[in-house]
Amino acid sequence: MSDVSSRDKKQSWFYTDIVKDHFFNPRNFMHEEVDETQYNAIGKVGSPACGDELRVWMRVDPQTERILDFRWKTFGCGSAIASTSMASVMVTENRGMTLEEARKVKPQDIMARLGGLPERKFHCSVLCDKALRDAINDFYRRSDQFDKIVVEASRIIDPVSKVTDHDIEEAVLEGAHTIELVQQRTKVGIGNPGCLPAVEELIRFYKEKYFG
Ligand code: FES
Repeated sequence: MSDVSSRDKKQSWFYTDIVKDHFFNPRNFMHEEVDETQYNAIGKVGSPACGDELRVWMRVDPQTERILDFRWKTFGCGSAIASTSMASVMVTENRGMTLEEARKVKPQDIMARLGGLPERKFHCSVLCDKALRDAINDFYRRSDQFDKIVVEASRIIDPVSKVTDHDIEEAVLEGAHTIELVQQRTKVGIGNPGCLPAVEELIRFYKEKYFG
């Protein structure tokens, strides 16, 4: 786990052999034209951090809710390709995870299996984590299990600059780990300093969530 975050600035662009392997030989990549009728859970997410997009298609056993097949396509970078490839292996190995097990997979788990990612590439593994969650919700929506859908609604933190908790999350993922850096990116609290304690708390929360 020593290099999971590759915090050493000298090694900040270090890629492990596992990352390179999954980048050059992506597993479960959707090469062919997609026939969406073959899948019963579809997820899609775009990254506000870099503008990249990821789509995933899953075939889920309706009885056991195990993931039998997980295919994906992305316009994202090498780290997104390696992360999604690894996630596709993790959720389908050993007869496949159940949807509830898959929901517990965190970006850190994917990075640990990859042997780490450069810190500024963390948001790429978050991208596949979010697409997986979107597909899980899609399965529950199609099967009318609405109580199992988990939606992360965004909340406005600063009504003046209209900055939300998701904006702060993206800033932290992009490496803004202090209030000053988050302010530079988002302008949060500049006309409304009363919200800064809440912003600081969120920075701590997201740092812990993704880098802790
Ligand atoms: S830079 Fe966009 S997904 Fe990695």
